[in-house]
Amino acid sequence: MTFQAFLLTITLLMAFQTSNTSPLDSVKKIGPTNAPKVAKVDEIRNRAQFIARSCKEVREVYGQSENGLYYLTTSTGVVYQTFCDMTTAGGGWTLVASVHEDNIYGKCTVGDRWTSQQGNNANWPQGEGNWANRKTFGTVEAATDDDFKNPGYYDIVAEDMSVWHVPNNTPVNHWKLAAIMRYHTDRRFLHLYGGNLYSLFHRYPVEYNVGAHLSDNGPSIPIVYDLGDKESTKMFYGPYSGAEIEGGFISFRAINYERAATAICSGVKPKGGNAETYCIGGGGFFPEGNPLQCGDFTAFAWNGYGTHVGWSASKQMLESAVLLFYR
Ligand code: G3P
Ligand code: CA
Ligand code: CA
Repeated sequence: MTFQAFLLTITLLMAFQTSNTSPLDSVKKIGPTNAPKVAKVDEIRNRAQFIARSCKEVREVYGQSENGLYYLTTSTGVVYQTFCDMTTAGGGWTLVASVHEDNIYGKCTVGDRWTSQQGNNANWPQGEGNWANRKTFGTVEAATDDDFKNPGYYDIVAEDMSVWHVPNNTPVNHWKLAAIMRYHTDRRFLHLYGGNLYSLFHRYPVEYNVGAHLSDNGPSIPIVYDLGDKESTKMFYGPYSGAEIEGGFISFRAINYERAATAICSGVKPKGGNAETYCIGGGGFFPEGNPLQCGDFTAFAWNGYGTHVGWSASKQMLESAVLLFYR
């Protein structure tokens, strides 16, 4: 070996030794600083050991009382993760869906999963049909960024519902604080309709031309407010809408003057036929102003975006996702 080769070998060996010390050392260094976070993630991952069909079961069987993400298992063994509200009115509320408006100007285009993503079309009266099928979409962490529907929607046999209106793009751990309206039912009404929305909407199909406004509407159920009241609810909808709704209810399958079907009127009971200005979701066809009323938030911007003029809802309402829970 020449002297130059000897020097090169020594240099390479030293370089190797220096780099060789780093990986484990850095883990050790990062370890203690990150410890509380790791413990929290560990705790959440450990929740995968629970076998429960709903947040109510997680609370009752495993004594969990902290709001957050849990794993649930359906009757057929499908495992999924969702958010449990373990504190409101005794807790045990399972998030099963969210209705999010990504672009009110879209008019039944991509993202309108709770109406139609294929245009306003009388030949497709049920639209996507997602109110009454087993299709699932979205993720729990993005429930205020996009539509969400998990297997709990059709699998859980529940008694009551809770609804949160949460501003778009709010992270999970801020949902409850950031919400602009929260309420729940307490009369076990879902008993009468098969135990969940999947069954309720089989009895009351969300479909164009199934009936007339008011006379063929689905049920309106009284609610208990956790944040807000009857008057603040009405203020989220347009002033003209306010004249034909009563606050303090959640209503299902409201039909409008032109026989278009909407899915949920959150916080209100319709007293007229302009349901498209205060009810969300629907079938695949809205005749009036074709296609202007078609979309997940229907005609909430009929008199301008977030103007709160005429039939237009407030900007807060327009830019908040509607989170649906069962218990
Ligand atoms: O849906 C609202 C629509 O029926 C109102 O009609 O004439 O007040 O714009 P108009
Ligand atoms: Ca949507
Ligand atoms: Ca109308």
